[in-house]
Amino acid sequence: ARTVKLAVIPGDGIGPEVVAEGLKVLATVAPAHDLALDTTEYELGAKRWHATGETLPDTVAAELREHEAIFLGAVGDPTVPSGVLERGLLLRLRFDFSHYVNLRPVRLYPGVHTPLGDVTPEDIDMLVVREGTEGPYAGMGGVLRKGTPGEIATQDSVNTRFGVERVVRYAFAKAAERPRHRLTLVHKDNVLTFAGELWQRVVREVGAEYPQVAVDYLHVDAATMFFVTQPRRFDVVVTDNLFGDIITDLGAAVAGGIGLAASGNINPERDFPSMFEPVHGSAPDIAGQGKADPTATILSAGLMLDHLGYADAARRIERAVGEDLQARAKDGLVRSTSEIGDDIARRVAEQG
Ligand code: NAD
Ligand code: IPM
Ligand code: MN
Repeated sequence: ARTVKLAVIPGDGIGPEVVAEGLKVLATVAPAHDLALDTTEYELGAKRWHATGETLPDTVAAELREHEAIFLGAVGDPTVPSGVLERGLLLRLRFDFSHYVNLRPVRLYPGVHTPLGDVTPEDIDMLVVREGTEGPYAGMGGVLRKGTPGEIATQDSVNTRFGVERVVRYAFAKAAERPRHRLTLVHKDNVLTFAGELWQRVVREVGAEYPQVAVDYLHVDAATMFFVTQPRRFDVVVTDNLFGDIITDLGAAVAGGIGLAASGNINPERDFPSMFEPVHGSAPDIAGQGKADPTATILSAGLMLDHLGYADAARRIERAVGEDLQARAKDGLVRSTSEIGDDIARRVAEQG
């Protein structure tokens, strides 16, 4: 068996609850595919910050780097000033480990209720390729004349040719692999003219290498409308960090809810460990109650297996999730976090 060193960061709120179920499913599926997971858990998040003032000590960052992948729940807590953990831990990992592809599939599973009503799984099957290391997330900008009536806060959007091109290339490669061969750039080039023009030009140039891929462009405001009214328009969507953040919560909602939305923060070159986590956050409003849906985290474990080269194991998780969602749709009963994890783990095991 091959051994993969996996770092686990349960984090805050519902993070530990959903990560436990993800690990449960991984423990069931891995041995069947001759994969041994050597997991190390890292206590990072609100508790550590309160105790020590640390978000991500350099020594821990160096240890994380020695792993093949990171499995994360969520970070952020109402008792910690907004941004301290989100920037100091989550974004720091995405930036330091060059997770320039934030991969967020938006798929409707059969039987799952969607607020769109009359749509089928064929209508909602997209892959959002969100840039992960630049845009307004870069942390450029600042505050002048703080506390005065003349106060100015700027938050610059960073868009480098290098950064845009690498994520656009990844998106085209994905579009070429997928049956519908379609790529939509989502931006706001009618207002954000400098960045928008760069994204457009890069898409045009890289697109010339992919004549089989049909390229489309939508302003982000119109894209949010079409996510709801015409989800079938979308196959691969490539977009910047902030637009990608926003449209993937919308994507989650149209595909059955934030509790089902998976993501991977990927460094395709494998120079650094990639990191897999649900799209959702720490959900302090339901933490500690066994109410969180662990499916997003379990599907993120599937994306991780794909990345590690275990595509069969990943498909097995997706099948088990599909069956569990069908069963839930049939009986309509409310299930706890661990009941859902147990059911998916059992179905994974039964696939033999
Ligand atoms: P959130 O995703 O945590 O919650 C939004 C809503 O969705 C809440 O009502 C919550 O109960 C519900 N929800 C989320 N996950 C669910 C699940 N698995 N099952 C059922 N319901 C679920 O977003 P928020 O409230 O905007 O943010 C809360 C905290 O999480 C903040 O500190 C924020 O910064 C942080 N956050 C972290 C991440 C991350 O770690 N990747 C992502 C988003 C938000
Ligand atoms: C997400 C989250 C993060 C983001 C926050 C918590 C920094 O919303 O993973 O979608 O904006 O990327
Ligand atoms: Mn988000």
